[in-house]
Amino acid sequence: MSTFRHRYGLQLHLYFHRITNSLRKLRKSTAVYYGKHLLCNSYKERFIVFILIDMRSCCYCETWGVVVASILGFENMKTIDPEQYEHIVFFTGAGMSAESGVPTYRGRGGVWSQYRWEDYACQDAFDGNPETVLQFHELRRAAVLACKPHSGHTAIATLEKKHPRVTVVTQNIDGMHQRAGSGNVIELHGSLWRLRCPYDGISEDIGERYKSYKCEKCGSWLRPDIIWFGDMLDQGVTSEAIAAIRCCDLFVSIGTSGVVYPAAGFPRFAKENNARCIEINPEANEMSSLYDESIRDTAGKSLMELFGRGARPSCLLTE
Ligand code: APR
Repeated sequence: MSTFRHRYGLQLHLYFHRITNSLRKLRKSTAVYYGKHLLCNSYKERFIVFILIDMRSCCYCETWGVVVASILGFENMKTIDPEQYEHIVFFTGAGMSAESGVPTYRGRGGVWSQYRWEDYACQDAFDGNPETVLQFHELRRAAVLACKPHSGHTAIATLEKKHPRVTVVTQNIDGMHQRAGSGNVIELHGSLWRLRCPYDGISEDIGERYKSYKCEKCGSWLRPDIIWFGDMLDQGVTSEAIAAIRCCDLFVSIGTSGVVYPAAGFPRFAKENNARCIEINPEANEMSSLYDESIRDTAGKSLMELFGRGARPSCLLTE
């Protein structure tokens, strides 16, 4: 049934897309139609001309496509109505920040193709050479500060303001979601913006540079509050993330390669709850088959298209 809906929903979408394109071409000859308008006799003709001379005729056509598709019971292929879902979880990885200019970890230009994680991202490296590891993270902080959240981050933050339950579960440590205005963010792998004393807890610092690399109380080296290779995930944070995913009815995964466990396995909790599961990633990976729909495109564009008006800041809405 779902394949049926998918196939015919897609055909319908393509059909309206074709009409939209034809209208776009016709719009160029608007002046000609406008001239004819005065000569039109029937209401039908006048109506058609009216549609054509409206600069937003293309938008109307696409909207009608969506309306007809929903009347016929096909899934809406292009946009999601957030109101239809009680709890939306966005599950994000490095690909979410890639469009802002923050490098991903794997693939071409990825952090781990330039640096060996064994030298910079594990407890052994820190124990052996804390200053080098801290300098590496200082460079990463500077790189992230030079980047700005993109339209996809803003789309999620805007949705959170309009919808009662939106949770971001992120593997990213860059704080981009918070900078875009998201408040309900669960950081599975910690944060680049915090240092932690192994004995005295967490020392927060959102400034451009760390105030000190040593604990004020005990003088020990402070380490980035990040889950490095070989570290266990924080139990409290993990439970919070799993609880959110387990009770969501819309799960949108964005820009993760799905290879780093346990986080890579988390989408299964959404599936077990029969949530609608959508993947946004230009490339397929081992987890892709789990999703109901996969959008092979970039994060910002896909999120804006998927959530349409609901994701646009209200200052940009004209109606
Ligand atoms: N939009 C969406 N996805 C994108 C984009 C984009 N513009 N650009 C790249 N991607 C996708 C890639 O296709 C890839 O599948 O983002 C994914 C990035 O994968 P990784 O670099 O492996 O990042 P991630 O899955 O977040 O890594 C998990 O690994 O090194 C650890 O702790 C680190 O949190 C990290 C974890």
